[in-house]
Amino acid sequence: MAEFDVVVIGAGPGGYVAAIRCAQLGMKVVCVDDWKYPQGKPSLGGTCLNVGCIPSKALLESSEIYERINHDYEVHGITVKGAQIDVAKMLARKDKIVSDFTSGIGSLFKKNKVTSIQGHASFIGREKATWRIAVTGSDELRAKHVIIATGSTPRVLPQTPLDGVRIVDNSGALAFAKVPKRLAIIGAGVIGLELGSVWRRLGSDVTILEAAPAFMPAADDQIAKEALRAFGKQGLKIHLGVQIDKATQSKMEVIISWKNAQGVAQELLADQLIVAVGRVPNTLGLGATEAGLKLDAAGRIEVDEHCRSSLPNVYAVGDVVRGPMLAHKASEEGVMVAEIIAGQAGHCDLNLVPWVMYASPEIAWVGKTEQQLKKDGVAYKAGQFPFMANGRARALGDTMGFVKILADAASDRILGVHIIGAMASELVQQAVLAMSFSASSEDLARTIHAHPSLSEVIHEAALAVDKRTIHI
Ligand code: FAD
Ligand code: NAI
Repeated sequence: MAEFDVVVIGAGPGGYVAAIRCAQLGMKVVCVDDWKYPQGKPSLGGTCLNVGCIPSKALLESSEIYERINHDYEVHGITVKGAQIDVAKMLARKDKIVSDFTSGIGSLFKKNKVTSIQGHASFIGREKATWRIAVTGSDELRAKHVIIATGSTPRVLPQTPLDGVRIVDNSGALAFAKVPKRLAIIGAGVIGLELGSVWRRLGSDVTILEAAPAFMPAADDQIAKEALRAFGKQGLKIHLGVQIDKATQSKMEVIISWKNAQGVAQELLADQLIVAVGRVPNTLGLGATEAGLKLDAAGRIEVDEHCRSSLPNVYAVGDVVRGPMLAHKASEEGVMVAEIIAGQAGHCDLNLVPWVMYASPEIAWVGKTEQQLKKDGVAYKAGQFPFMANGRARALGDTMGFVKILADAASDRILGVHIIGAMASELVQQAVLAMSFSASSEDLARTIHAHPSLSEVIHEAALAVDKRTIHI
């Protein structure tokens, strides 16, 4: 038996960051993680580092370079003949980036004196205000505080069972040994669009089947419309409002039976099928519900705004609780909880979590969409500016899209910023910072922006809120 101040369960971006922050604040902390992928090999970093954010962005970069060489260089006067993609090399690069980061977490744990244990953790119970945690292959752990950061796993569809070869989830889709000629994807969510973009750029004929009648319903309507047009132009075939009946396999292919929005039966033949229909919170085998932990209707651990669960001194953060399933949200909650345990005023504002989709065009936003403001009856002003009129975007040859800023009609406080276009993932941070300081659109309009830079599109969109753009 070993005693700690805090046991953290899970070493994804929620858990490992919480553990490091606890240690920085002087607590004796242990982080337990049961990840074993691939080939049963333990690895820190959870979904994000192993099969999520990091490997997907590595492949997005490789595939974008390949596409640009083939389609965008000619106009610069650069001719490249016979560009080829070596998939094995591309995957090895991705794997190296992943292993550098996952082993880096081990080093961060050592540096911060966080004890790291590989194994599956489960609650035994509580004695004299101390939680007892069992860990497979290890001694029992005891601590006053527990932080649950067990993340999420892909949702499965009973009618399209995964075989890990032809029908795969995000893990398999990051490791196809060759470019599939025909790639089918179920789900036009973030994974479907990002990984669909990767394989399309490398040459796959990609068809995405989406159950919802609307495309990207969480995004601002105008952004979603622009994105659907752009993906269609690139050749992604996206069918909305479909019903998936079943997927069967022959030796050579997957046959997906589905109904289109009009209810007409269809068949799609593909070499690979990716199922990306959302993720479910991971509370399996945690023993926490037996210990009295409350879950909500969606199976997530019920928490308050400070991530306190229904059990005393037990907190939960990241994908396993309400809110967006995003790595940076998980990490910020981890920091908040560590600071609260240390008696400080930890804080995480879910209204200021940026969303990013890293396909091309990149899409990013923070705050309210125009349709949300209308629904809530909030009076607002909108300002918009296109990348086409920006010098840096023209030099980059990446001119599609726009920035839209929504501000309160009376106070001018920024309520939402929506970006579709080059480097949206980086540009959105300016908006997050401004909104964190409750800035008005006038504050952004009066901030000096370097020229020529993509950030000038945000500047002009802020000027547009007051109808005084200069360059349009
Ligand atoms: P996880 O990262 O899932 O980590 C949970 C850890 O807990 C795992 O290691 C698991 O094995 C372990 N665990 C579970 N139960 C136990 C137990 N009982 N005992 C011990 N250990 C346990 N988000 C972004 O913000 N940006 C992106 O670009 C992005 N890209 C993504 C791409 C893909 C393909 C996917 C699938 C996800 C992506 N995400 C992205 C989402 C992001 O990965 C998650 O939001 C994030 O990993 C959640 O962090 P977490 O710490 O809550 O959980
Ligand atoms: P998602 O929730 O983004 O999208 C799932 C899609 O599948 C939805 O559009 C849904 O309507 C559809 N769907 C559900 N059931 C279906 C069915 N039976 N038939 C057809 N379509 C169906 O989930 P996704 O793409 O699996 O990603 C999971 C989470 O991972 C995301 O919500 C996001 O939080 C995170 N992520 C974040 C990324 C980023 O930040 N860039 C990148 C990738 C994932």
